[in-house]
Amino acid sequence: MKLKIAVLAGDGIGPEVTREAIQILKAVAEFGGHDFTFTEALLGGVAITAEGTPIPKATIATCLDSDAVLLGAVGDNKFNHLTPDKRPEAGLLQIRQELGGFANLRPCLAFNALSENSPLRPEVTKDVDILFVRELLGGLYFGQPRWWNKETGEAINTMRYTKAEVVRVARIAFELAQKRRKKLTQVDKANVLECSQLWRATVDELKSDYPDVTVEHQLVDSMAIHLMNTPRHFDVVLTENLFGDILSDESGVITGSLGMLPSATIGGKVNLYEPVHGSAPDIAGTGKANPLGAILTAAMVLRHSAKLEDAALAVEAAVAEVLAAGHRTADIARGNAAATVTTKQMGKLVHEALAQSLDREQSLHGV
Ligand code: IPM
Ligand code: MN
Repeated sequence: MKLKIAVLAGDGIGPEVTREAIQILKAVAEFGGHDFTFTEALLGGVAITAEGTPIPKATIATCLDSDAVLLGAVGDNKFNHLTPDKRPEAGLLQIRQELGGFANLRPCLAFNALSENSPLRPEVTKDVDILFVRELLGGLYFGQPRWWNKETGEAINTMRYTKAEVVRVARIAFELAQKRRKKLTQVDKANVLECSQLWRATVDELKSDYPDVTVEHQLVDSMAIHLMNTPRHFDVVLTENLFGDILSDESGVITGSLGMLPSATIGGKVNLYEPVHGSAPDIAGTGKANPLGAILTAAMVLRHSAKLEDAALAVEAAVAEVLAAGHRTADIARGNAAATVTTKQMGKLVHEALAQSLDREQSLHGV
């Protein structure tokens, strides 16, 4: 299989974790005889520094000419003084728009080996397997009008959704639920917001097309509590842009670290893959970054773009194996210096575990 991957490593820890994710993809390509190519382009703060814009035209062209885009992270405190439309994050929001993916899949998978890392009790987080489907191109992030009038001291953002925007992302969530435990939780603030009422009514209308899926609605404030109290209750969680941003970060409490969370954005021209964590400029270059979010993101590239489900599962199993063997990056080490490895070492450990399992597989199949 052939796959052209655009790499936007970005700012802070982006480049170091992305490097490890690429090593994993290269290993899969080598073992499976696949042809994966990687083309780097600039996005975010590094693009502002080099080209004076967070998203150069060449970056957009490279991405649109690819089968998948692998992104590290964007954001750099150096640019905090700029207006929102000039900051690194503006580049991220624009590339999301250009690529057109509207369904941001954010799995929250609790690894048993990390059960002591969450402030939640192990019996609460055990076997949690949630898939957040976050709408990514609408709502407050993009709604017009938006402005801040510093003279009058007034600012406005607009939460706006059309029924069609809800339908297209809801259908993806329903279909994913059908392949999983057939439970869909739709999250909104329908007791206050008209937008949320539109979401609720639209999801209810679609229910009859997916009779095997059980649908429930939750208000976002109580969802924040349920997610901590009974995370195992949830299967697919569908929600709008901002609520999805917040709830998916909250789910990092279940996994023990935000550094463990991957994401994939599908439904547009080119799929976009990015770990949920940010650029973490405070630890950039120190070897403390956890590459597992990026590596699990690489697994999502294999699953959703390369359609190599077995390879995706092998990468996820390799991560589980390395964690079970006790290896930890700083964020998940709980002060255990003996278990602590660097970003690079963690990448190498996963690479080795993966190579061994792919080797075993090849000899089993006599290839
Ligand atoms: C995320 C991030 C972005 C978002 C920021 C960096 C614009 O927090 O991917 O969750 O809010 O979508
Ligand atoms: Mn976020």
